Amino acid sequence: MGWVSEEQKQADNRARATTDELRAFIREDWAPRRPTVTGPSPAAAPAAARRAVLSAAYPKQRLVVPAGGLKVRSNDTDYVFRPHTAFAYLTGLGADREPDAVLVLEPLEDGGHEAVLYFRPLADRDSDEFFADARYGEFWVGARPTLEDVELELGLTARHVDGLVDAVAKDAGEVTVRVVRDADHELTARLDAARVANGAAEEGLQESDDALAHEVSLMRLCKDDYEVEQMREAVAATHEGFEAMIAALPDAVGDPRGERWLEGTFGLTARHRGNGVGYDSICAAGDHANTLHWIKNTGEVTAGELVLIDAGVEVDSLYTADITRTLPVDGTYTDAQREVYDAVYAAQQAGIAAVKPGNKFSDVHAAAIRVIAEHLHAWGLLPEGVSVEDSLDKEHGQYHRRWMVHGTSHHLGLDVHDCALATREEYMDAELRPGMVLTVEPGLYFKSDDLKAPERFRGIGVRIEDDVLVTEDGCENLSDAMPRSSEDVEAWVRRVQGR
Ligand code: GLY
Ligand code: MN
Ligand code: MN
Repeated sequence: MGWVSEEQKQADNRARATTDELRAFIREDWAPRRPTVTGPSPAAAPAAARRAVLSAAYPKQRLVVPAGGLKVRSNDTDYVFRPHTAFAYLTGLGADREPDAVLVLEPLEDGGHEAVLYFRPLADRDSDEFFADARYGEFWVGARPTLEDVELELGLTARHVDGLVDAVAKDAGEVTVRVVRDADHELTARLDAARVANGAAEEGLQESDDALAHEVSLMRLCKDDYEVEQMREAVAATHEGFEAMIAALPDAVGDPRGERWLEGTFGLTARHRGNGVGYDSICAAGDHANTLHWIKNTGEVTAGELVLIDAGVEVDSLYTADITRTLPVDGTYTDAQREVYDAVYAAQQAGIAAVKPGNKFSDVHAAAIRVIAEHLHAWGLLPEGVSVEDSLDKEHGQYHRRWMVHGTSHHLGLDVHDCALATREEYMDAELRPGMVLTVEPGLYFKSDDLKAPERFRGIGVRIEDDVLVTEDGCENLSDAMPRSSEDVEAWVRRVQGR
């Protein structure tokens, strides 16, 4: 099974004969197609509103936003397709939609833009693609939408992708054309060549293009109502996935790959409720919690230890949650675990309290890390004579970061680390605004071989992570329904496990 890679064409070891008789036979006697799209997608109107914002920012310029193509996983097998984030944001298309498609905002004479989606529409049944193309053909991967389907679904103009390069580059000497370059490198190279051939200056092309990608990244900092609703769904599905893992904990204990059992349990919910996981789940039992990106998940889950689980469901529109809970494997924190846990919880409370309009993004980290530093100081872990203020000094201190090397927050949305192209001024140093969604995720990590840590803390790693929406006068913790304090987590485990 699969499409035929170049390597396989050389080897020719799985070639199938296609006769004229088969071609004729396979084309006939199919019932009329039933419509697959019956009306506009709920994502269509918000995507149109976003395009209008971009249109106003680039009058009289042609804007090109590719979805990207299929990516080979091995030989003739592709990864599940995920469109580039800028494309998903500006079209409203999500899971598995639409390989090789390109959104073009075509400038209009009297202002504004026409949105045109170039894509590979459903091939007729009398084409070879219909039955013989394992990468795109209907027999192999199912029917794609028609041009009419997409026009109805998204409320824009749809055209065949074959006309794309000419349409984009035809007058590139007169009209500024900007391309989101990162989405499809091969297409970008073709568009570069075509733009230059049609009179565009090669110099400065990249900078001009990069400004467009940057602008879309910035637009995504504040979520619209539809996006917030999608985030709520992602969080609700993630909540369900965590409860499935809590219910599965007793089965994971003692299994040599208990962490994988938890990962798979979450993955089932993620795939069932949404498109899948928004990033590889971290299921880190015991000392593994101290490896920040522990995604191998190959370890045992042992009674008496903690298991740190950092996981998020990505819904079909591609918005993802990003939530961490650190659970006592047998339902009760030991004294030492609780001491660390409660410190992290206090830091998180302080961080969440700092999420409000007018505060800077970096204030959230400042509030949380101060509480972390205070606890480390009280435990006597900072160097002799170093005060909390000394340690918080950015130029000469920062000793506390030995036990929390990561930041407290990041923007969250279509990408788990969202709005990646915003600059420091636009991100860290910027004021929080209503509609922003960020994580608040302090932690403390005491490796089992950390000789500066008290023995009772060694091997304990705790992170608590929630997804928080900035509101007009403060914030709403979107994942507030998932218990967080040590007592509430213990009660949660008991309730979900029915004991
Ligand atoms: N799960 C990755 C993060 O928390 O940023
Ligand atoms: Mn996380
Ligand atoms: Mn995170």
